[in-house]
Amino acid sequence: MKGIILHGGAGTRLRPLTFSGPKQLIPVANKPISQYVLEDLRNIGIRDIAIVLGETFPELVMQHYSDGSRFNVRISYVHQGKPLGIAHAVYLCKDFVQDDGFVVYLGDNLLQKGIKSYFEKFLANNYDCMILLKEVDDPSRFGVAEFDEKGSLVRLVEKPKVPPSRFALVGVYFFKPIVFDVIKDLKPSWRGELEITDAIQTMLEKGYRVGYSIVEGWWLDTGKKDDILYANSLILDEHGVREIKGELVDSKAEGRVSVGEDSKVVNSVIRGPAVIGGNCIIQNSFIGPYTSIGDNVKVLNSSIEYSIVLEEACIEGVDRLEESLIGRNARLVKNRAKNAVKLHVGDYSEIEL
Ligand code: G1P
Repeated sequence: MKGIILHGGAGTRLRPLTFSGPKQLIPVANKPISQYVLEDLRNIGIRDIAIVLGETFPELVMQHYSDGSRFNVRISYVHQGKPLGIAHAVYLCKDFVQDDGFVVYLGDNLLQKGIKSYFEKFLANNYDCMILLKEVDDPSRFGVAEFDEKGSLVRLVEKPKVPPSRFALVGVYFFKPIVFDVIKDLKPSWRGELEITDAIQTMLEKGYRVGYSIVEGWWLDTGKKDDILYANSLILDEHGVREIKGELVDSKAEGRVSVGEDSKVVNSVIRGPAVIGGNCIIQNSFIGPYTSIGDNVKVLNSSIEYSIVLEEACIEGVDRLEESLIGRNARLVKNRAKNAVKLHVGDYSEIEL
């Protein structure tokens, strides 16, 4: 079996962060989202992985994953360029896949329990394709499954206005190479993309064996700021550990708190689950639960909770920062002598005062 990670898409709903990097490299609990995907594939024994790159900073993706040896996998890169759809991206991997079965994993999808049990089901049943479904409140945002009275899967439809069920297609798909023959004849959808949902629908119509599993545990498609913060809280809840490598001076670290090397926490309280990167300075501050702070960050005289702060940022004198996503090198400083708010804010930023 081989693995394909899709790493394209403009990430418009995550601007301004996606002006300087692809959305899949945004860290949750201080690790890029697509790295959870790669590690999930690696942990089920998949060593050959193709990463399909889009137009948004492909060089940063290659820099992070390189040849894969750091993660104990072999990585091939495939350039998609323009976002012409998931099925198009998959088709570009035909030479990489050759005669093997393969898993396609969208680089912004996170599953609580990983894909091991579904992978085993796909192999055991010798399906031509297997999809994963999850009941959601807003199925119109996704591909949606329709079942008949007997509970058999009969139809799949991409982003329907009137959804035939509440079961959304999760961004993980198992295939045999027969799918390439189907994609070859696919026509672009109304949004101008070759839809993987249409490819699987065609497989159903042609009588190929399409299986499905309902995902247990949480599943997140991290397209917006709130999804990223929620993913951060779930991952910290699930995997947060206590590991203090830096120095605590007159400070308390309560519960599952991790503080990276060369970080200094002075006269502060950190309440887990929370993670602080390396070489940070936290002084006279409170870092509350569900907060991830990247490397080289300074937090002075501030209080932060349920937030992500990326590398090199500086936060000073901010009383109560919550549900916030702060980009690299950002500076958030309260000038107590003045009442006016002074801003120097990037395009498409969002500020709630
Ligand atoms: C894609 C698929 C959709 C699926 C979703 C899961 O949507 O087209 O069927 O439900 O991923 O994340 P897109 O990210 O293109 O909106």
